[in-house]
Amino acid sequence: MGSDLKISTKIQDYILNNGLDLHPVQKEIISHNESLGDIKRMQISISQSQFLHLIVKTSNVKKILEIGTFTGLSALSMSLALPEDGRIIALDKNQETNEIAIKFFEKAKQSHKIQTIIKPALESLSEIKENDFDLIFIDVMFYGMVKLLMKIVMIKSL
Ligand SMILES: C[S@@+](CC[C@H](N)C(=O)[O-])C[C@H]1O[C@@H](n2cnc3c(N)ncnc32)[C@H](O)[C@@H]1O
Repeated sequence: MGSDLKISTKIQDYILNNGLDLHPVQKEIISHNESLGDIKRMQISISQSQFLHLIVKTSNVKKILEIGTFTGLSALSMSLALPEDGRIIALDKNQETNEIAIKFFEKAKQSHKIQTIIKPALESLSEIKENDFDLIFIDVMFYGMVKLLMKIVMIKSL
């Protein structure tokens, strides 16, 4: 599970106790990830999911590109904050975790907003023709990061 840098336990507890209540399917994703052992570290933290929700809700965001979906917590957190005509393109190369994410999106009745693409992100980014994303959330770290950022700059400058 992702950790919060420089946030004390006291502040973290305050955010959890007073922040946005999680949707039941967000809670399900978190408990599913808990059962995965060490790999659960991949998931964003609860306060990060609340923060993503807040940004989308308050910034008139309608179209999002996500790179790194895992089992879906970040995509679902943003999707729940989007208006009905909002849209997320969610990229991840892992078929197995993607299938799990898709089931959670369906369960939360958000699949009409989230299009997943299962491929290495560099390939997906070469194929994506759209360039009007209001928000790009990158949650991957890999050797091709510089190339990935260059592709994103190209998408945004088309
Ligand atoms: C840190 S996890 C994402 C966590 C997710 N945002 C969440 O809220 O649970 C990183 C994800 O990026 C994916 N990934 C890593 N390298 C990738 C690449 N080159 N192309 C596409 N996906 C990649 C992994 O399969 C993994 O699911």
